[in-house]
Amino acid sequence: MNESMMQSPDGVAIRIDHLTKRYGEFTAVDGMTLEVPKGRLFGFLGPNGAGKSTTIGCLTGLLDPTSGFVELLGERFSSDSIDLKRRIGVMPEGLALFDQLYAHEFLAFNGRMYGLEESVIRQRVAELIGALDLTAASRKRLADYSTGMRKKVAFAAAIIHRPEILFLDEPFESIDPAGVAMLKDWLRRFVSDGRTVFMTTHVLETVERLCDDVAIIKGGQLAWRGELDCLGKGGTLECDGEQFSTLEALFLHLVGERYNHLDWL
Ligand SMILES: Nc1ncnc2c1ncn2[C@@H]1O[C@H](COP(=O)(O)OP(=O)(O)OP(=O)(O)O)[C@@H](O)[C@H]1O
Ligand SMILES: [Mg+2]
Repeated sequence: MNESMMQSPDGVAIRIDHLTKRYGEFTAVDGMTLEVPKGRLFGFLGPNGAGKSTTIGCLTGLLDPTSGFVELLGERFSSDSIDLKRRIGVMPEGLALFDQLYAHEFLAFNGRMYGLEESVIRQRVAELIGALDLTAASRKRLADYSTGMRKKVAFAAAIIHRPEILFLDEPFESIDPAGVAMLKDWLRRFVSDGRTVFMTTHVLETVERLCDDVAIIKGGQLAWRGELDCLGKGGTLECDGEQFSTLEALFLHLVGERYNHLDWL
């Protein structure tokens, strides 16, 4: 990531400006402002219920903000931004697959939705199914897939059109270690030519090794934002005037340690 790219307005992949999302009376995302430069693998962290999936919903058009706005790739984004939606890929939290389809049918359907040519679709579907170790399952319908297999198909559907920004909500959950190692490698390559990944996960070791930048949110608000590359070089993360040598220590500082024990257990 070079300096000029970070500073140029063209270098911003995602701009979130005072984003608020309410469900009835409840405020799930509360005036969040955040920018993600292009070419970064961005970890979006926070405790359960912090508002991560709600934010991703607003960034991908699954939800409309109550107030504030979102820009993707320099353009104002909303749920009816059809052209922008073709330039992003989304693996949402809930896996809404079409259960009666076979994996190759579902992936081809996604490819057509994004306007890919049939020959490209055929090639990419075959490569994805092979790489994700789903060939043996190709005679089963998605309804009969295991949880990890469904997750792999959802990942494949999110990347088949080679999007410019990839939004992943808990992408590695339920995927076996070999699969996770391969997906991490794919994601590093994905950002190496200036495309952007915005992902949530609760596995902080993965974030430390994989992500360039993180934001930690709490109660729908940004609690910390920073770069991680110093950690590998013996550096520390600073917050509230304190230094933290791991992301876990910083996370626990921000969200509070909870070691309540149960007398009856
Ligand atoms: N459809 C909904 N209606 C009402 N409240 C909702 C709805 N969806 C989410 N919420 C609430 O909004 C808050 C944020 O939820 P969200 O799913 O964004 O959290 P999250 O950070 O993704 O959590 P997790 O780590 O558990 O996935 C929670 O308090 C949740 O109960
Ligand atoms: Mg979530």
